[in-house]
Amino acid sequence: FNDKPLQGQRWLITAGPTVEPIDPVRYLANRSSGKMGFAIAEAAAKAGAEVVLVTGPVNLLASSAIKRIDVQTAQQMFEAVKSEFKSIDTFVACAAVSDYRPTEAAPQKLKKQSDNGLTIELMQNPDILKWAAEQNAAFCVGFAAETNNIEEYAEAKMTKKGINVICANDVSRKDIGFSSDNNEVSVYYKNNGAMQVERLGPALKTVIAQQLVSFLPGIK
Ligand code: C5P
Repeated sequence: FNDKPLQGQRWLITAGPTVEPIDPVRYLANRSSGKMGFAIAEAAAKAGAEVVLVTGPVNLLASSAIKRIDVQTAQQMFEAVKSEFKSIDTFVACAAVSDYRPTEAAPQKLKKQSDNGLTIELMQNPDILKWAAEQNAAFCVGFAAETNNIEEYAEAKMTKKGINVICANDVSRKDIGFSSDNNEVSVYYKNNGAMQVERLGPALKTVIAQQLVSFLPGIK
Protein backbone atom coordinates (compact mmCIF):
# COMPACT_ATOMS: atom_id res chain seq x y z
CA PHE A 1 0.00 0.00 0.00
CA ASN A 2 1.43 3.32 -1.14
CA ASP A 3 0.14 6.28 0.87
CA LYS A 4 2.13 8.76 -1.28
CA PRO A 5 0.99 7.83 -4.81
CA LEU A 6 1.58 11.39 -6.09
CA GLN A 7 5.20 11.58 -4.90
CA GLY A 8 7.30 13.43 -7.50
CA GLN A 9 4.27 15.09 -9.12
CA ARG A 10 3.59 18.82 -9.17
CA TRP A 11 -0.06 19.91 -9.00
CA LEU A 12 -1.25 23.45 -9.64
CA ILE A 13 -4.68 24.36 -8.27
CA THR A 14 -6.77 27.53 -8.45
CA ALA A 15 -9.41 28.25 -5.83
CA GLY A 16 -11.83 30.84 -4.54
CA PRO A 17 -13.46 33.79 -6.23
CA THR A 18 -11.76 36.59 -8.06
CA VAL A 19 -12.47 40.14 -7.03
CA GLU A 20 -12.58 42.85 -9.67
CA PRO A 21 -12.39 46.47 -8.48
CA ILE A 22 -15.02 48.98 -9.60
CA ASP A 23 -13.50 51.81 -7.55
CA PRO A 24 -11.31 51.87 -4.39
CA VAL A 25 -14.16 50.62 -2.18
CA ARG A 26 -16.36 48.51 -4.46
CA TYR A 27 -15.87 45.31 -6.38
CA LEU A 28 -17.44 42.63 -8.53
CA ALA A 29 -17.13 39.15 -7.03
CA ASN A 30 -19.01 35.88 -6.53
CA ARG A 31 -20.05 33.40 -3.86
CA SER A 32 -17.15 30.96 -4.12
CA SER A 33 -15.86 29.97 -0.67
CA GLY A 34 -12.70 28.25 -1.94
CA LYS A 35 -13.50 25.12 0.10
CA MET A 36 -13.42 22.66 -2.81
CA GLY A 37 -10.11 23.95 -4.19
CA PHE A 38 -8.48 23.99 -0.76
CA ALA A 39 -9.71 20.45 -0.08
CA ILE A 40 -8.19 19.24 -3.38
CA ALA A 41 -4.91 20.99 -2.55
CA GLU A 42 -4.78 19.31 0.87
CA ALA A 43 -5.66 15.89 -0.55
CA ALA A 44 -3.01 16.15 -3.29
CA ALA A 45 -0.37 17.28 -0.78
CA LYS A 46 -1.30 14.42 1.55
CA ALA A 47 -0.88 12.01 -1.36
CA GLY A 48 2.68 13.28 -1.79
CA ALA A 49 2.35 15.88 -4.57
CA GLU A 50 4.16 19.20 -4.51
CA VAL A 51 1.19 21.58 -4.50
CA VAL A 52 0.90 25.19 -5.62
CA LEU A 53 -2.42 26.80 -4.71
CA VAL A 54 -3.36 30.10 -6.34
CA THR A 55 -6.34 31.55 -4.51
CA GLY A 56 -8.62 34.54 -4.54
CA PRO A 57 -9.66 36.08 -1.22
CA VAL A 58 -11.11 33.38 1.09
CA ASN A 59 -11.32 32.69 4.82
CA LEU A 60 -9.36 29.47 4.75
CA LEU A 61 -5.98 28.20 5.90
CA ALA A 62 -3.70 25.96 3.87
CA SER A 63 -1.22 23.65 5.53
CA SER A 64 2.43 24.66 5.41
CA ALA A 65 3.33 21.93 2.88
CA ILE A 66 1.33 23.86 0.27
CA LYS A 67 2.76 26.82 -1.63
CA ARG A 68 -0.05 29.36 -1.40
CA ILE A 69 -0.23 32.41 -3.64
CA ASP A 70 -2.92 34.95 -2.78
CA VAL A 71 -4.39 37.10 -5.55
CA GLN A 72 -7.39 39.37 -6.02
CA THR A 73 -8.19 39.73 -9.70
CA ALA A 74 -8.47 37.27 -12.59
CA GLN A 75 -5.52 38.95 -14.26
CA GLN A 76 -3.38 38.44 -11.14
CA MET A 77 -4.53 34.81 -10.97
CA PHE A 78 -3.56 34.36 -14.62
CA GLU A 79 -0.08 35.87 -14.03
CA ALA A 80 0.48 33.60 -11.01
CA VAL A 81 -0.64 30.51 -12.95
CA LYS A 82 1.62 31.40 -15.89
CA SER A 83 4.64 31.87 -13.65
CA GLU A 84 4.01 28.56 -11.83
CA PHE A 85 3.15 26.57 -14.97
CA LYS A 86 6.44 24.67 -15.07
CA SER A 87 6.64 20.87 -14.93
CA ILE A 88 2.99 20.66 -13.91
CA ASP A 89 1.48 17.16 -13.99
CA THR A 90 -2.08 18.16 -13.16
CA PHE A 91 -3.79 21.54 -13.29
CA VAL A 92 -7.07 21.76 -11.39
CA ALA A 93 -9.06 24.95 -12.07
CA CYS A 94 -11.42 25.19 -9.16
CA ALA A 95 -11.54 28.97 -8.93
CA ALA A 96 -14.74 30.84 -9.80
CA VAL A 97 -12.99 33.30 -12.07
CA SER A 98 -15.04 36.36 -12.91
CA ASP A 99 -15.77 36.21 -16.63
CA TYR A 100 -15.78 40.03 -16.79
CA ARG A 101 -14.10 42.94 -15.06
CA PRO A 102 -14.83 46.66 -15.14
CA THR A 103 -12.96 48.04 -18.17
CA GLU A 104 -11.52 50.71 -15.94
CA ALA A 105 -11.49 50.78 -12.15
CA ALA A 106 -12.32 54.36 -11.12
CA PRO A 107 -9.33 55.88 -9.26
CA GLN A 108 -11.71 57.57 -6.82
CA LYS A 109 -14.91 56.46 -5.13
CA LEU A 110 -17.83 56.83 -7.55
CA LYS A 111 -20.34 59.43 -6.47
CA LYS A 112 -24.07 58.91 -6.69
CA GLN A 113 -25.47 60.59 -9.80
CA SER A 114 -28.68 62.48 -9.13
CA ASP A 115 -31.74 60.59 -10.43
CA ASN A 116 -29.77 58.64 -13.00
CA GLY A 117 -28.76 55.00 -13.11
CA LEU A 118 -25.14 54.04 -13.53
CA THR A 119 -23.64 51.96 -16.30
CA ILE A 120 -20.39 50.12 -15.65
CA GLU A 121 -18.63 48.90 -18.75
CA LEU A 122 -17.21 45.40 -18.46
CA MET A 123 -14.61 43.58 -20.51
CA GLN A 124 -13.77 39.89 -20.66
CA ASN A 125 -11.13 38.36 -18.43
CA PRO A 126 -8.63 35.86 -19.81
CA ASP A 127 -9.75 32.23 -19.62
CA ILE A 128 -7.02 30.73 -17.44
CA LEU A 129 -8.09 27.12 -17.89
CA LYS A 130 -8.29 27.44 -21.67
CA TRP A 131 -4.78 28.90 -21.70
CA ALA A 132 -3.53 26.03 -19.53
CA ALA A 133 -5.04 23.43 -21.87
CA GLU A 134 -3.45 25.13 -24.89
CA GLN A 135 0.00 24.58 -23.40
CA ASN A 136 -0.47 20.82 -23.95
CA ALA A 137 1.75 20.27 -20.97
CA ALA A 138 -0.49 19.15 -18.12
CA PHE A 139 -3.57 17.06 -17.43
CA CYS A 140 -6.24 19.77 -17.15
CA VAL A 141 -9.28 19.49 -14.91
CA GLY A 142 -12.06 22.07 -14.88
CA PHE A 143 -15.12 22.64 -12.75
CA ALA A 144 -18.55 23.61 -13.96
CA ALA A 145 -21.26 25.09 -11.84
CA GLU A 146 -24.52 24.64 -13.68
CA THR A 147 -28.16 24.87 -12.77
CA ASN A 148 -29.62 22.90 -15.69
CA ASN A 149 -28.64 20.56 -18.56
CA ILE A 150 -25.51 19.72 -16.56
CA GLU A 151 -24.22 16.83 -18.69
CA GLU A 152 -24.72 18.63 -22.00
CA TYR A 153 -22.96 21.80 -20.82
CA ALA A 154 -20.17 19.79 -19.23
CA GLU A 155 -19.35 18.06 -22.50
CA ALA A 156 -19.55 21.32 -24.47
CA LYS A 157 -17.22 23.01 -22.00
CA MET A 158 -14.74 20.14 -22.18
CA THR A 159 -14.54 20.45 -25.95
CA LYS A 160 -14.50 24.25 -26.04
CA LYS A 161 -11.69 24.56 -23.52
CA GLY A 162 -9.80 21.51 -24.76
CA ILE A 163 -9.54 20.01 -21.29
CA ASN A 164 -9.33 16.38 -20.12
CA VAL A 165 -11.88 16.35 -17.32
CA ILE A 166 -14.81 18.42 -16.17
CA CYS A 167 -16.24 18.10 -12.68
CA ALA A 168 -19.81 19.32 -12.69
CA ASN A 169 -21.90 20.29 -9.73
CA ASP A 170 -25.49 21.37 -9.60
CA VAL A 171 -25.53 24.81 -7.98
CA SER A 172 -29.31 25.02 -8.12
CA ARG A 173 -29.32 22.73 -5.05
CA LYS A 174 -28.98 24.49 -1.72
CA ASP A 175 -27.46 21.58 0.19
CA ILE A 176 -24.36 21.30 -2.04
CA GLY A 177 -21.89 23.52 -3.83
CA PHE A 178 -20.74 27.08 -3.06
CA SER A 179 -20.39 27.81 0.68
CA SER A 180 -21.55 24.36 1.72
CA ASP A 181 -19.17 21.82 3.29
CA ASN A 182 -20.81 19.18 1.14
CA ASN A 183 -20.77 18.53 -2.54
CA GLU A 184 -21.81 16.05 -5.17
CA VAL A 185 -19.70 15.98 -8.29
CA SER A 186 -20.10 14.26 -11.65
CA VAL A 187 -16.68 13.72 -13.18
CA TYR A 188 -16.87 13.68 -17.00
CA TYR A 189 -13.97 12.44 -19.13
CA LYS A 190 -13.38 10.65 -22.40
CA ASN A 191 -12.19 7.14 -22.96
CA ASN A 192 -11.40 6.39 -26.63
CA GLY A 193 -13.66 9.28 -27.60
CA ALA A 194 -16.63 8.09 -25.54
CA MET A 195 -17.94 10.19 -22.66
CA GLN A 196 -17.65 8.53 -19.28
CA VAL A 197 -18.99 9.70 -15.98
CA GLU A 198 -17.99 8.93 -12.42
CA ARG A 199 -20.24 10.24 -9.67
CA LEU A 200 -18.68 11.26 -6.36
CA GLY A 201 -20.67 11.99 -3.22
CA PRO A 202 -22.86 13.42 -1.84
CA ALA A 203 -20.18 13.78 0.78
CA LEU A 204 -18.01 16.31 2.55
CA LYS A 205 -15.86 18.33 0.15
CA THR A 206 -12.80 16.93 1.94
CA VAL A 207 -13.98 13.40 1.12
CA ILE A 208 -14.86 14.27 -2.51
CA ALA A 209 -11.39 15.83 -2.83
CA GLN A 210 -9.68 12.63 -1.64
CA GLN A 211 -11.77 10.53 -4.02
CA LEU A 212 -11.00 12.88 -6.90
CA VAL A 213 -7.28 12.92 -6.17
CA SER A 214 -7.17 9.12 -6.19
CA PHE A 215 -9.44 8.83 -9.24
CA LEU A 216 -7.76 11.34 -11.59
CA PRO A 217 -4.35 9.65 -12.02
CA GLY A 218 -6.13 6.49 -13.23
CA ILE A 219 -7.70 8.26 -16.22
CA LYS A 220 -4.69 10.39 -17.09
O1 C5P B 1 -16.53 28.90 -18.58
P1 C5P B 1 -16.78 28.61 -17.15
O2 C5P B 1 -16.48 29.78 -16.27
O3 C5P B 1 -18.11 28.03 -16.85
O4 C5P B 1 -15.74 27.46 -16.82
C1 C5P B 1 -15.46 27.07 -15.53
C2 C5P B 1 -14.08 26.49 -15.45
O5 C5P B 1 -13.13 27.30 -16.13
C3 C5P B 1 -13.60 26.40 -14.04
O6 C5P B 1 -12.74 25.30 -13.95
C4 C5P B 1 -12.86 27.72 -13.86
O7 C5P B 1 -11.89 27.64 -12.84
C5 C5P B 1 -12.23 27.91 -15.22
N1 C5P B 1 -12.09 29.31 -15.64
C6 C5P B 1 -10.82 29.89 -15.74
N2 C5P B 1 -10.69 31.19 -16.19
C7 C5P B 1 -11.79 31.91 -16.51
C8 C5P B 1 -13.08 31.34 -16.42
C9 C5P B 1 -13.19 30.04 -15.96
O8 C5P B 1 -9.82 29.24 -15.43
N3 C5P B 1 -11.64 33.16 -16.93
